Amino acid sequence: MREHAMAQPDLLLLAGGIRSGSLNEKLIGCVSEAARSLGLGATRLTLSDYRLPLFGADALSIDEVPEALALKAVFGRHDAVIIASPEHNGSVTAMLKNALDWMSCPNAGEAPQAYIAFRRKAFGLVSASSSPFGGMRGLSQLRHILTTVQALVVPEQLSVPHAHRAFDEAGRLTDPFLTGLLADLVRSVAGLGRR
Ligand SMILES: Cc1cc2nc3c(=O)[nH]c(=O)nc-3n(C[C@H](O)[C@H](O)[C@H](O)COP(=O)(O)O)c2cc1C
Repeated sequence: MREHAMAQPDLLLLAGGIRSGSLNEKLIGCVSEAARSLGLGATRLTLSDYRLPLFGADALSIDEVPEALALKAVFGRHDAVIIASPEHNGSVTAMLKNALDWMSCPNAGEAPQAYIAFRRKAFGLVSASSSPFGGMRGLSQLRHILTTVQALVVPEQLSVPHAHRAFDEAGRLTDPFLTGLLADLVRSVAGLGRR
């Protein structure tokens, strides 16, 4: 699965993990459904489809890494992004951080801190975890990283606690309160992305 066009590709949706049966992939499914209900276009992206080397290896420039260029180009085509991020040891996943670091690199000819994958784009952050806190500590760190690369992160945020029992068999959130919060977040990201 690379990009899956579902209408006009306004929102880019991705999970920050790789686990089969990922709760955050389920949550991204709910984000996608919320976007559809609001009449918004959305595109789902699977991070593991992009085989990125570990960032920071000896003088590897992004221009030498086609997969990083391809991922950065997808971000570059979207005005608004929603990330569902698992929490590992109180922070973002290594996979997500690696991808963000690659995309923060300038291509040949770009200014050193152009941040074209992020700069002034609207981001929304959600998380799901089987833990009681739902991965909220990781989202604070993700917000910090994205702000550093000049993204605009909406203040709305959603962490789903005890997420192993938060979805029904069709993958929907069973708690209408969380569903409402998710719709508010999607609306906010889309509004900021369109400004
Ligand atoms: C090494 C390791 C560290 C973890 N650290 C955290 C953590 O800090 N906070 C948390 O909520 N869950 C933590 N977990 C649990 C996972 O984040 C949790 O199972 C969640 O379901 C992962 O998201 P996913 O289902 O989308 O993969 C950790 C799991 C592992 C294997």
